[in-house]
Amino acid sequence: MAKSNTIKRIGILTGGGDCPGLNAVIRGVTKPAHDEGMHVWGIHDGFEGFVEGKGNLIYNKDVSGILTQGGTILGSSNKGDPFHWPEKVGDEIQIFDRSKNVIQNYEAWGLDALIAIGGDGTMHIAKKLGEMGLNIVGVPKTIDNDLEATDVTFGHDSAVFVVAEALDRLHTTASSHHRVIVLETMGRYAGWIALNGGLAGGADIILLPEFPFSWDIVYEKVIQRHMLGKRFSIVCVAEGAKPKGGNLVIKGTDKKRTDPIQLGGIAELVAKKIEENTGLETRYTVLGHLQRGGSPTPYDRILSTKFGTYAIELVMKKKFGRMVALKGSLISSVAIEDAISKQKVVSPDCQAVQAAKAVGVNFCTEDF
Ligand code: F6P
Repeated sequence: MAKSNTIKRIGILTGGGDCPGLNAVIRGVTKPAHDEGMHVWGIHDGFEGFVEGKGNLIYNKDVSGILTQGGTILGSSNKGDPFHWPEKVGDEIQIFDRSKNVIQNYEAWGLDALIAIGGDGTMHIAKKLGEMGLNIVGVPKTIDNDLEATDVTFGHDSAVFVVAEALDRLHTTASSHHRVIVLETMGRYAGWIALNGGLAGGADIILLPEFPFSWDIVYEKVIQRHMLGKRFSIVCVAEGAKPKGGNLVIKGTDKKRTDPIQLGGIAELVAKKIEENTGLETRYTVLGHLQRGGSPTPYDRILSTKFGTYAIELVMKKKFGRMVALKGSLISSVAIEDAISKQKVVSPDCQAVQAAKAVGVNFCTEDF
């Protein structure tokens, strides 16, 4: 990298839900930035801290030893959209536009560029702030892996690892007690975690948001296994899965969140219906935030480091309004506006679905 550049001070933030690998990206940005004589300003708690003016300089000692650490040393928030800023006025929550505070703080901190690490919500905000004149480079994170513009987001592999390990453990207890066990994964409206985790953990049934399922096929498959002498069954269900003609199962709503809907509860429903309709003893487990916590897998450590170091290269080349992306085996970049134009969802012809079907996994859908 050339030594002469006019970028002297870059801001960095982690927005939305956390995931393993965020710290590895922060390290991947900070070390080369310091080598080039730049200052790195860490913004606390995503865009929330940007609006509220919370941040500090990051030194090399701050990023030493964080490659393997889960979470984010900067803190994160999924409630800090500056364009949709909830504030209590009397008894009511009202929504305000606080993007001007972000611009003010960007100037007050003397930033020449911002690296925004986040998922689709963060990239939507980054695009709007870019249009207001901020120099932004995006880095895609999310365990959900639902950004079309990159083959993989970091954090996904770590979540899949947790699902696979949970399924391994559930297999042994399901087999001892001759039970059906239903495991609920995260993933919001995309089924990648359940699909890849279910495939890695040998689930018998995988239920995804993309393929509304038929209750009758679920019962048939479980009974069929029982009749064949297989005395247990494992169902891996994505939190966003729903029966054909039915609704999403929602735990709650919170207007302060960028996405107000909190999914959760489908595994309990599936387990209850299986037990009622097949007579087979059934249990369920909800993996929840275990999928977001802990140390990143080696794959995610490598991907995050590549993403972070590539992001700083983009900054130095002043390629703003771009998001780092993985295409095949190469890291490149795409325009942030293209990155957010389409959500990546599971299609029936994707190779993981085909492979799963070939080894007998049932998606319990009438759609294909
Ligand atoms: O987008 C990541 C994710 O973990 C989703 O899979 C999940 O639906 C959501 O965030 C949970 O968010 P929260 O931590 O705010 O409950």
